[in-house]
Formats: sequence, C-alpha cells, structure tokens
Amino acid sequence: MALIIDGKKIAGEIRDGIRSEVLALKERHGAVPGLAVVLVGNDPASSVYVRNKGKACEEVGFASFQYTLPETTDQGELVSLVDELNARKDVDGILVQLPLPKRIDEAAIINRIDPRKDVDAFHPANVGKILIGDEDGFLPCTPQGCKVLINRVVPGLKGKHLVVVGRSNIVGKPMAAMMVQKKKDADCIVTVCHTAAPDISYYTRQADVLVVAAGKAEMITGSMVKEGAVVIDVGMNRITHPDDPSKTKLVGDVKFDEVEKIASAITPVPGGVGPMTIAMLLANTLKAFKLHRGVR
Ligand code: GUN
Repeated sequence: MALIIDGKKIAGEIRDGIRSEVLALKERHGAVPGLAVVLVGNDPASSVYVRNKGKACEEVGFASFQYTLPETTDQGELVSLVDELNARKDVDGILVQLPLPKRIDEAAIINRIDPRKDVDAFHPANVGKILIGDEDGFLPCTPQGCKVLINRVVPGLKGKHLVVVGRSNIVGKPMAAMMVQKKKDADCIVTVCHTAAPDISYYTRQADVLVVAAGKAEMITGSMVKEGAVVIDVGMNRITHPDDPSKTKLVGDVKFDEVEKIASAITPVPGGVGPMTIAMLLANTLKAFKLHRGVR
C-alpha cells in the first residue's frame, strides 16, 4: 500500500512557520505582508476560493484586502484597480481570481499587474523566469505545492522520469519547466502528455513521478501506473456520489482506490495538493514583502 502524502499536515506546518516569521517581522519592522485579492462577478466556486485565501491570510497575520466587483465591471475599471494596487505600499501581493468574465481581456489584466507583486506568477516576466530557472521571480502556487510534496518523498530526483498529464498555463507547463531545471531538487527527465496523445498510458506507465492535472475525474487507473511510482493528483472534480445519487463527491483525476495499491506514495483528494496551493500563496506573499521592503 502506498504512503498517503498528507498535504493538509505539511501545508499546516508551512503556515505555522510563516505565522512565526510574520510575528518576528512585525516586531522588527512594524509592518506585515499585505495581499489584495480581486474577484469579479459571483461565480460560486471562485467566491469560495477567494474567501479561503482571505481567511488563510488573516490566520498567519497578513493584511488581507478583498475586492468584490460586479459582473458588469468593464476593462477600464479593473485596470484602474490593478494600477491602484500596484502603487500601494501596503499591498505586497495582487491576485486577480480567474476566470474573469468573457468581456474582459484576461491577458491584458495579468500583464498589467506589477511582476514584483504577481504572487500567482502568471505574468509573462515571471513565466519567463521559471523557464530559465531564475529564482528572483515567483513560482505558481499549485505546481510549487506539488514540487514541495515531491521533494519530501523523493530525496534524489536526478534522472528520474517525471510525467505531467495536462498542459495548462497554471499547472502543466510551469510544472514541467520547474522540474527540468539542473538543480538539486529537480533535474528530472520530463515528459508532458495531453489530449492529443493517442494513448496517454504509453507515457504514464513510464513515470517514476506522475503529476496529473488534466481536469478529468478518475482518468488515471491502476493499469496506467508503474509499480512504485509517486503519484501527485492535482484534480478537483465534483461527481455524482456512487452510493447516493442525491449527493456529490469530490474526486481527483486519479482513481485513488486502484492506484494506491500500485504507487509507493500518492496524494489524496481532498487533503493533498489543494491545501498546499494556499500555503504557497502565503509563502509567495511573504517573499514579495521581503523583496519590497528590503528585509530578510
Ligand atoms: N483560478 C483557479 N486557480 C487559480 C489560481 O491559482 N489563481 C488565480 N488567480 N485564479 C485561479
């Protein structure tokens, strides 16, 4: 049976560490990191994510600034808000929750955020830094959380075959870029596979470390995984509950019951990658604070 990687516990330890650091920074410098979170419209899932991000900030002693704008907000209004947040001294990190309403040009908004405050690491300047392995920028929260978990369970990654399923800008592509770097905690042989592959299992069966971010409920079955692989499940899919059709159930992209019998370690859903994403957002905001204020 596989080791179940307890993302909730690891994220909790990271948050505790950040909380202690914030206390010390407050004493020494009289200031705390500030994160601005912007939500446009009232998508229920996004509202929950944004609320959780605000709560997590408060728990570690950050200042949290939440902006909820109506669905009818236009490009100009959102640009003005981003400009205002870029200029504010008490705002170290800016996060504009995606997806934005269709009328709004998402890329233009992301490009408008000061890269030094881009704690999501979606700005092209930060994306470029990830690719060249420049650690001055930020790493995107979800793949960074996956990497922390992988580094905990696989001490030596050099030459290991890491296979990513999914090629999104938020997870798949940055994950691959991070793990291919010639660094002690990476140095993997990386394969990215996606919907264009005639047979995904041809790739997944070769993985020493398998990261699945495809957004398809339970698509990775036992026969698609190599014996002893480490499996990181980024998926969050709500399906009809198999035992009670009046209820729903949260599942990952991996068929957990089958794969845990084959893998050496696996993240559960919920309680695996999810809590790590928010912990990494807090870590990025703390990094931004130190950078802006020139403190250590
Ligand atoms: N929507 C889904 N995931 C994310 C995320 O990590 N950051 C932002 N800004 N929006 C998202």
